[in-house]
Amino acid sequence: MEKLLVVEDDIGIQKQLKWTLDDYDVVFAGDKSSAISSLRRFTPKVVTLDLGLPPDAENASEGLATLQEILSLDPSCKVIVITGNEDNLNALEAIKLGAHDFYQKPINDEELTVIINRAFFVSSIETENAKREALECEDTPIIGTSPKIMRVKSMIDKVAPTELTTLLLGESGTGKDLIAREIHQKSRRNTKPFVAINCASIPENLLESELFGYEKGAFTGAQKTTPGKIECANGGTLFLDEIGDMPYPLQAKILRFLQDKVVERVGGRTQIPVDIKIVCATNQNLREMVLEKTFREDLFYRISEIVIDIPPLRERNEDVLILSRMLLNQCADMLSKKFTGFSDEAMAALMAHSWPGNIRELQNKIRSAAVMSDTKLISVMDLGLDDTHDELDFSLKVTREKAEKEAVSKALAYCDGNVSNTAKYLGITRPTLYHAS
Ligand SMILES: Nc1ncnc2c1ncn2[C@@H]1O[C@H](COP(=O)(O)OP(=O)(O)OP(=O)(O)O)[C@@H](O)[C@H]1O
Ligand SMILES: [Mg+2]
Repeated sequence: MEKLLVVEDDIGIQKQLKWTLDDYDVVFAGDKSSAISSLRRFTPKVVTLDLGLPPDAENASEGLATLQEILSLDPSCKVIVITGNEDNLNALEAIKLGAHDFYQKPINDEELTVIINRAFFVSSIETENAKREALECEDTPIIGTSPKIMRVKSMIDKVAPTELTTLLLGESGTGKDLIAREIHQKSRRNTKPFVAINCASIPENLLESELFGYEKGAFTGAQKTTPGKIECANGGTLFLDEIGDMPYPLQAKILRFLQDKVVERVGGRTQIPVDIKIVCATNQNLREMVLEKTFREDLFYRISEIVIDIPPLRERNEDVLILSRMLLNQCADMLSKKFTGFSDEAMAALMAHSWPGNIRELQNKIRSAAVMSDTKLISVMDLGLDDTHDELDFSLKVTREKAEKEAVSKALAYCDGNVSNTAKYLGITRPTLYHAS
């Protein structure tokens, strides 16, 4: 229940309001000092304030002073001033000082309730807007407000200033590339190069010379001495993408480089010192690869000084719409088209889809929808997500069931599989637990 502070010295009116305003958690204060201490303690979004307060109950001076102090402590607080009958001048004065609204006695319960409800409504809209603005000002290209992505953002802020080697783990399309760049951007190396190399896309025999460079004549075709990517990144950040695909023999050489911070070009003898920060990424399970001996254990520990797990989009459903809107705006600019947004069904379909290809898949869907759409409103058909209709109708049910199953399996694990304890732990009966699992 929302807290509502009622500043009123008349006990009779206090009682009347207590009954009327039972949708709110009402806190009463009879004078200025208790009003201010309640404001500090409960931070109500809305306050009703009787202007005639003791010691000057006949006039408005104490009431107006209270109003000023409330607003100086919390400028977003919506104060509804309650004045004596026909006391227009003080009402006007209060509005000038920043009161949200005024109401003249005698109090009509229904009217006052409408005014209070509206004040809460305005306050909630303002809070929403402020949140959105704060997000827009946030200096990161990483969109999302889910707790999981907020945690990733805060980890980025913490690791960026350090020299620790960071490993980004996440499914394809979750933003590993974007995050690697962001770590560089937020580091003291951001004026120096960010060099990315995709270990999976370069043929094994070329990867070594690509990374370490080569001397003229080192092999057929090596016509001139060429520095490798590591050297090129000097002073900046080297992003080793898809590190899980690094050939086993080369892993030893990389490890040596990580330990000694020097490179030797292929066919060369000189040791060239380099100062770089390393960020690695993979969508493979490196631990399993270590067990299977396809990834060196020592290298694994060396690159995973900090590990950032990037959650797949299906685990942060609350980010889907905000990302969709942002992507649609980008497409609109690109195509010089104007869109008003997504239809209700389109939004429901976006939310219901499980996005196995994560943000890249979302990006593709929105791009093609933006191209295809003949109207300003993107529809389910435009998105090509109409196959999810069935899922849509039951999406709340499905979500609930999924969440229940997850909670049950976690609780079972926590209780070592003991059914009675699990039921107790979950606050349900055993039969319900059987039903849920
Ligand atoms: N949180 C986010 N906010 C905004 N855009 C994002 C976000 N995450 C990813 N993207 C965008 O989605 C696309 C895919 O992200 P990215 O290339 O970083 O993923 P990836 O994890 O490196 O994928 P892959 O494993 O396939 O290489 C990019 O265009 C990226 O800018
Ligand atoms: Mg990538």
